[in-house]
Amino acid sequence: MNPLIIAPSILSADFSRLAEDCRSVEEAGADWLHVDVMDGHFVPNLTIGPVVIQSLRKATAGFLDCHLMVSDPLEYGQRFARAGADLVSFHLEAAMDPGAVIDALRTENVQVGLVINPGRSPEELFPYLDRIDLVLVMSVWAGFGGQSFLTHSPARVEILAQEIARRGLSTRLEVDGGITATTARQVRDAGADTLVAGTSVFGAPDRARAIADLRA
Ligand code: DX5
Ligand code: ZN
Repeated sequence: MNPLIIAPSILSADFSRLAEDCRSVEEAGADWLHVDVMDGHFVPNLTIGPVVIQSLRKATAGFLDCHLMVSDPLEYGQRFARAGADLVSFHLEAAMDPGAVIDALRTENVQVGLVINPGRSPEELFPYLDRIDLVLVMSVWAGFGGQSFLTHSPARVEILAQEIARRGLSTRLEVDGGITATTARQVRDAGADTLVAGTSVFGAPDRARAIADLRA
């Protein structure tokens, strides 16, 4: 199994002091920084563009895990890769031809992830598992931080974990939304190896403690 990765979502950071907040979670033990990109179209919320990735790229050597909640991943995936993302994940629901987006991103120097919202069946990701570096199972509906974990999520994670193991792949299995120490345990037991947490890390009085609790 892959080593556990904790990826705080900077959606819950203070955007007026973003570099400082990123450093704070890195010093607190974060492995990756999860960057939630929303285009006001695929989801109703609007967050950040490639220019912010360019600035972050200068501010940190850390791994930038970019979660694209955008309607046109073919166009924007490439832009985020070129801005300095280390991994670009896009939604299965957003891509007319997910294979074409994967192929396009493969020509960039970037890892590739594929995401499903709670409404999609995990089996829909099976055809792509050996062509991507990571699958991301949303445990809330994409769009906003601070939502409650959907309780059917561990079962969905387990279906993918079993298929990845059955095929002997090293594809990472990430979970995003409502992750706390309690829900982290549930999805890790189901086979997740990469955990995104916004509110429970950035909102904690002691971020190092919060990250340690997610690992425990
Ligand atoms: C939701 C985002 C998540 C979210 C996580 O659309 O993809 O990354 O910000 O935040 P919490 O941990 O607060 O649910
Ligand atoms: Zn996310």
